[in-house]
Amino acid sequence: MVDISILHFLEDLISIIPGTSFQVNNLSLHVEHAMLGAERDRYFYKTVKMLIGDVLGLVSGDSLAVLYDSRTPVEAVRVYSAVATELGAEVALIELPRPPAGETSHIIQPKPAIAAVKVATAAISSWVTYTAPLAEAVENGVHLLSIPPGPDVPDMLIRTVGQVNMEKMDKENARIVELWENGKEITITSDLGTDLRADISGVKQHHSPQIPPPRPKKGEKWMEFVPWGQAGGSCNRVEGTLVVNGIIGARSIGIFGLPSGPITMEIKNNRIAKVRGDSRIWPLLSTYLDSKNDPNVYGFPAHGPSVGLNPNAYIGGPAEWERVRGNITFGVGDNSVLARYSGGEIFGPRISAKIHWDLQILGANLYLDGKAIVENGQIKI
Ligand SMILES: [Fe+2]
Repeated sequence: MVDISILHFLEDLISIIPGTSFQVNNLSLHVEHAMLGAERDRYFYKTVKMLIGDVLGLVSGDSLAVLYDSRTPVEAVRVYSAVATELGAEVALIELPRPPAGETSHIIQPKPAIAAVKVATAAISSWVTYTAPLAEAVENGVHLLSIPPGPDVPDMLIRTVGQVNMEKMDKENARIVELWENGKEITITSDLGTDLRADISGVKQHHSPQIPPPRPKKGEKWMEFVPWGQAGGSCNRVEGTLVVNGIIGARSIGIFGLPSGPITMEIKNNRIAKVRGDSRIWPLLSTYLDSKNDPNVYGFPAHGPSVGLNPNAYIGGPAEWERVRGNITFGVGDNSVLARYSGGEIFGPRISAKIHWDLQILGANLYLDGKAIVENGQIKI
């Protein structure tokens, strides 16, 4: 039986110090989980103000187009609108039909939505972001912020953006980028059998060198995915054995999640070759990939390896799973749109394919010219 005075104490603590962790009788509680109603709204508002005011940098006379669908609560989208309006910007909230499951990889925005994005100073995409028309808008100077769609977006943004130690991630990221851009080789190993070598000589990083990224200047090419907290991401080529024990697949096609067991892949000649293991995701995913009759859907890597830095990111949530602290992520298949977003500064093979998907290694080791960056899934920098 829990003493009622403890509950009152917890209640007080929860209302005073959101974002703190504490230990009670072996139960680790994280205060933000208890945020409800007005309190959560306040933290969400603060987070959105940081995103739209400080990072995207909207000012009076600017304009913002927000693309979203019914997966994201309209109340959340209205906060984007309220903040932008307060800053003196014109706003259009554009609700699109939900993309049909299994078809979203190459689906593009309806024409009126594209037209709105083209004339705006900035756009928030909470729909399908990996599309050529949005990449073209970015190339023409529209600042694009991609916020994943979903019912838990306010909680995810509060956790991974609003209440995270951004300075710490920024320092770690800067150090990793410096080592990476001056390094020659990365090795990745794991107890499950991962044994990869990646050539990184001469690569530049296409992820932002700063967390959060600097405010864009007018007309400057600027595109960001939130949440932040993913270091590295580029190599010339990678070979060896890769064992996936984290997320695999593409949310956009509805085949996405944790495998039933480790999936072992051989990486050779910029391709995923032999694959074995897992009875849950891989049978569905490989059937889907093979149905595309496009060998480039196994092209590797589309991006990566990257190292997750965000201590508040969860495994499973859209986009945030790639930022989970200590995880290693690779992209597979198409990187043609990514190349446009990153200004052509993409390393590794250029791949045009009918789908882009991703995979994750958890609890592994990543060494950069012998220096430990990740060991047993823990950041060592
Ligand atoms: Fe990816």
